[in-house]
Amino acid sequence: MTSNLSIDWNELTPTWKNFQVEPFSNGIHVVRINISKNLHHISDQKHLLKNPEQQKLSRIVKQGDKNIFLCSQVMKRIVCGQYLNIPPDEIEFDFTENKKPFISGQPDFHFNISHSGNWIIMILSNNPCGIDVEKIQPDFDFDGVMKLTYHPDEIGYVQRSPDQHKAFFRIWTIKESFLKATGVGLIDNLSDLNMIKNSTLLENPIPWKIQSFMVDGGYWCSFCFKSQNPKINFYEY
Ligand SMILES: CC(C)(COP(=O)(O)OP(=O)(O)OC[C@H]1O[C@@H](n2cnc3c(N)ncnc32)[C@H](O)[C@@H]1OP(=O)(O)O)[C@@H](O)C(=O)NCCC(=O)NCCS
Repeated sequence: MTSNLSIDWNELTPTWKNFQVEPFSNGIHVVRINISKNLHHISDQKHLLKNPEQQKLSRIVKQGDKNIFLCSQVMKRIVCGQYLNIPPDEIEFDFTENKKPFISGQPDFHFNISHSGNWIIMILSNNPCGIDVEKIQPDFDFDGVMKLTYHPDEIGYVQRSPDQHKAFFRIWTIKESFLKATGVGLIDNLSDLNMIKNSTLLENPIPWKIQSFMVDGGYWCSFCFKSQNPKINFYEY
């Protein structure tokens, strides 16, 4: 087991500026998109979706899930297109065998996306990265899930926290951001992964870093990246 992961437990307090494309300069860009605020004009861009995406959209039954899927697919195209200076309908997404999306032919462009409740959050960087946002559900009975998926050290962290729900969802986003950055996605042995002791199951020479912040007071967002001490820019779409 290697120890090459460093988690900053200090919560970031982002200052959000209006979305614009700026050079990465080895930094990290985080873009948040409020679904209800943007739904109207994103719906006007539905034509950007390719056939398989249109078909998937038509198969989704619940209106809320439809909105999330539509916004996520459209915004991936718009945001990546603006960074790469490619028309959004010409972006071709590729997928790793674990389904992590990437854009082929762009080795220096990395992105990841997550959605929960009313938010979609993207991370963009010159280096591999992953992001996860989760709504803190104060009524969620997390005990069963926690026993199955959290390491004993993580369970201890949650149980010792003054707000256990908040702590549970923070660990969740930390674990997920790591799994999404590495592209592993879903694994069976989630409880072997110990984010408290910063030990990972994956051999990797370059250290991963994880930072977290709250969105709107009700969501945790964590992101995982490889760059050393990058400047982090936060944008509101
Ligand atoms: C699919 C998974 C990557 C994330 O799922 P999720 O948290 O439900 O969904 P999110 O909204 O955060 O992310 C979805 C996006 O991740 C991206 N994604 C899919 N597979 C990915 C992978 N292997 N690596 C990185 N990103 C991936 C996709 O872009 C997807 O969005 P899209 O379908 O709109 O394109 C996967 O890790 C999963 O199913 N996790 C749940 C595991 C679990 O039980 N965790 C318990 C606590 S750790």
